[in-house]
Amino acid sequence: MENPTINSMLARRSVRRYKPDQPTDEIVETIVRAGQQAPFASQLYSVLLSRKKKAPFKAPLWFTICVDLYKLERFMKIRGWELVTNDLSLLFFGIQDAAYMAENMVIAAESLGLGSCFIGNAPYLAERIAKEYKLPPRVLPLVGLVMGYPAEDFPPRPRYPLWFTLFEDEYPEFSDEQVAEAMKVMDDGYLAQGYYRKQKAKISLEVEREETFTYNDYSWTEHISRKWGQWYHSPKELLEQLAKRGFTMEERLEHE
Ligand SMILES: Cc1cc2nc3c(=O)[nH]c(=O)nc-3n(C[C@H](O)[C@H](O)[C@H](O)COP(=O)(O)O)c2cc1C
Repeated sequence: MENPTINSMLARRSVRRYKPDQPTDEIVETIVRAGQQAPFASQLYSVLLSRKKKAPFKAPLWFTICVDLYKLERFMKIRGWELVTNDLSLLFFGIQDAAYMAENMVIAAESLGLGSCFIGNAPYLAERIAKEYKLPPRVLPLVGLVMGYPAEDFPPRPRYPLWFTLFEDEYPEFSDEQVAEAMKVMDDGYLAQGYYRKQKAKISLEVEREETFTYNDYSWTEHISRKWGQWYHSPKELLEQLAKRGFTMEERLEHE
């Protein structure tokens, strides 16, 4: 099935080379407006924009999508309400609000001929970003999103087969062979594009394992395994950033 929306969504890929051309204010505002029209639990987000600083991949637009409880509390105060919901629950809703809005921005940008790429380190740099943008407490940088006119062209990246993704009525019992088949779809797809070779993105081994991979066979499932098999053992770093932004994962005290 085809239509302009579906075609644009199926052609989307993360862009990591940009032309220097600045998109107009009208384009920026249209993209953010389209983002805002995403479904929300409580509009628990704000969008920061920088056109000045050196963005990743030299992109002309550098957004940072934040989970924002500050605006909620401001308006509840005007209504004479005190927020009592715990921060973990609010964070779950806030992440969803911010993520759906961000992805709507991505799709809107794509439809206007712009490319984009998420940058995932924002929560780990939350305090630094907060200082830079003078964020009030209770605003948490969730993800960076760079955008601009693409200076590279390539086919979309692979995805798991639909049978490994969509489960009607019952979650299947997968054999190792089936899992390996899904892995192969991903690995062959990334290898065919020379994805990791081009980006020189091989993650080095920090654990006692012998390096046997070259860019001829290093692909997505090994890359992802090396990330989540080696990084971020402890939640401490993230919890500290959350605490500094005024998010607490403990029981809210009665009349704090
Ligand atoms: C939460 C999140 C964080 C990401 N962080 C980065 C990043 O820091 N650097 C980067 O180059 N790409 C980043 N990406 C982009 C992914 O690498 C990319 O979406 C994925 O490889 C699939 O490729 P595609 O978007 O071209 O289909 C991120 C994507 C998401 C959703």
